[in-house]
Amino acid sequence: MTHIVEKPATAGVVWITGASSGIGRALALAYARRGVGVAATARSVEGLDALAREAGGLVRAYPADVTDAAAIAATVDRIEAEMGPIATAILNAGIYLPVRAQNLGVEDCARSFRVNLDGTVHCLVPLLARMGARRAGQIAIVSSSAGYRGLPTSAAYGATKAGLINLAESLKFDTDNMGIDLRIVTPGFVETAATDRNPFPMPAIVSAETAAARIIAGLAGRRFDITFPRRFTLVLKALALLPASVYFAIVARATGWRGKRD
Ligand SMILES: NC(=O)c1ccc[n+]([C@@H]2O[C@H](COP(=O)([O-])OP(=O)(O)OC[C@H]3O[C@@H](n4cnc5c(N)ncnc54)[C@H](OP(=O)(O)O)[C@@H]3O)[C@@H](O)[C@H]2O)c1
Repeated sequence: MTHIVEKPATAGVVWITGASSGIGRALALAYARRGVGVAATARSVEGLDALAREAGGLVRAYPADVTDAAAIAATVDRIEAEMGPIATAILNAGIYLPVRAQNLGVEDCARSFRVNLDGTVHCLVPLLARMGARRAGQIAIVSSSAGYRGLPTSAAYGATKAGLINLAESLKFDTDNMGIDLRIVTPGFVETAATDRNPFPMPAIVSAETAAARIIAGLAGRRFDITFPRRFTLVLKALALLPASVYFAIVARATGWRGKRD
């Protein structure tokens, strides 16, 4: 396949979804420190206003819910009218709802799919149209290393993150020819509100600030899959290549899931 992305976006507005907390917030502050203008989206007006105050002028709040396609299209219109063309979009809004076979719930699954999958598509539609017309722009879809293969409690979350990896890979065949630089981000564990309540040990966990720095450095590089901390995510990638029987045995033992009945 010919890789003909003409210029990775290095200047211009950065649009970040899920910017009111965690990785998205750390990304917004890191870009602002580099003098880059940021359009910050999430549902929490308070969270975004606090972020904008802390960033001192370079971050502007564009509150919206990614599950509302029309609101997201209008938000992209507003950002470009008020701040200029979006050079880089980091589609990071996401939720993690633990799900187990014993309590599989339609609404938990549907909510995860709506925010993580539909929400990302709602952002991609206006971005691809605009960036395609300009033949310029960079889009990072924040998935997770939990998308490589099934993990305990991840039936809903992991399904969305695996879906995002496949979605990005499929779109990349076209975006390469459209002059759009499309990436996937697959972090290991990051210290945020989403992982705060996890009752299990989280190996190689990194801070949100480290995650933001790794994403920004990854976007300046050329790798499609921006993954970190590599000592952890590469182990998960290697496990994903194993035959199912070996994979389930290793992961059940490593996570304490072997024989688990509660
Ligand atoms: N933390 C980890 O270990 C880890 C690992 C791998 C991947 N990730 C991924 O990284 C991304 C960020 O996660 P995080 O750990 O930083 O979690 P977080 O602190 O809980 O942040 C999630 C962000 O998404 C926003 N959001 C949630 N629902 C939304 C909606 N319907 N519309 C718009 N924004 C919405 C939240 O803002 P509002 O509530 O204000 O809307 C918040 O800003 C997620 O996609 C997550 O799956 C995280």
